[in-house]
Amino acid sequence: MRAVVTGAAGFIGSHLVARLLVDGHEVVGIDALTENYAAVVKRRNLATALATDRFSLVEGDLLNIDLASVFDGADCVFHLAGEPGVRESWGLDFARYAERNIVATQRVLEATRVSPTQRLVLASSSSVYGRAPTEKLAETLPPKPISPYGVTKLAAEQLCFAYRQSYGLSVAVLRYFTTYGPRQRPDMAFSRFISALDAGQPLTVYGEGAQRRDFTFVEDVVAATVQAARAADAGELAINVGSGHPATVAEVIELLSELVGREPRIVFEPVPAGDPESTWADMSRAREVLDFEPAMDLAEGLRRQVEWQLFPS
Ligand code: NAD
Ligand code: UGA
Repeated sequence: MRAVVTGAAGFIGSHLVARLLVDGHEVVGIDALTENYAAVVKRRNLATALATDRFSLVEGDLLNIDLASVFDGADCVFHLAGEPGVRESWGLDFARYAERNIVATQRVLEATRVSPTQRLVLASSSSVYGRAPTEKLAETLPPKPISPYGVTKLAAEQLCFAYRQSYGLSVAVLRYFTTYGPRQRPDMAFSRFISALDAGQPLTVYGEGAQRRDFTFVEDVVAATVQAARAADAGELAINVGSGHPATVAEVIELLSELVGREPRIVFEPVPAGDPESTWADMSRAREVLDFEPAMDLAEGLRRQVEWQLFPS
């Protein structure tokens, strides 16, 4: 297949590119190397892919490049580009979230209408659930995001379904849960905790560390994403992509401290606005629709992230 991956140089996008190349596909990546973290890190994420002749990178912004010509002849578009990060999406920063998560998605959809593909896969987020009435989050729950970021991801989902309704596009909307592993974004919790432990610096924990996340290993997220390209049309309901086994921040810090071999010093700070207390993916639908079963257990996944971050080869 010929696949297009937006956000190809990012944390999850670069793993998806690698997997598609291993599977023998031809891949065109699009990335603007935005400033949420260093461009040099993003370029490094693609170093191996760039050495293969089945991969090419369009370095440009979804908001202003001619997407229809890039999509021409593609079998699948994986739309992962976006402005991530839950807690930073308030205030003046919201404009960036609206542009990169909503307007950019609408441009991807318009281009897909002009240059139709067999499937458009959207990377949405567990943050669309907000503070739900049940512990396990099933896709049939009414979404109620509590962060502006979550609102933009929900808008992107709804745009996909609107284009599906009116133009018959085949879309798969995936709700990724907090993802970790090698190349994790430097603003995310595990990445920050590992760096702080290694440097003997204090770790910042929001609240008491009792918040729970359905932490999901990046290769599992990628496996579900690849499945979404070839599964039967999933209709107008999103699909959770999680591990189904949540852990608390405090539990993770204990495991990381053992792996790094340092006692943690912790500074507690108030819980930032928009940060949900708990996420826990109901994985029944992913199992049924994508035939997907997450494989990585947390201790081994953490070991791999620590190894990548502290002992890069
Ligand atoms: P990331 O920041 O590492 O990757 C996103 C990439 O998109 C970046 O390389 C950035 O340069 C690029 N990009 C952003 N706006 C662009 C634009 N307008 N044009 C071209 N490129 C652009 O983030 P990530 O953690 O890999 O997240 C990937 C996707 O998955 C995002 O859509 C995010 O909202 C979603 N998601 C991530 C997580 C997670 O835990 N990491 C969880 C749920 C959902
Ligand atoms: C992550 C991604 O960053 C979002 O882009 C994504 O949409 C979201 O997952 C999702 O699941 O949809 P988040 O869960 O906030 O968001 O991921 P982390 O930054 O890894 O934070 C995990 C937990 O650790 C949060 O409860 C946060 O409050 C806490 N944390 C984070 C700390 O206690 N200290 C820190 O220094 C950083």
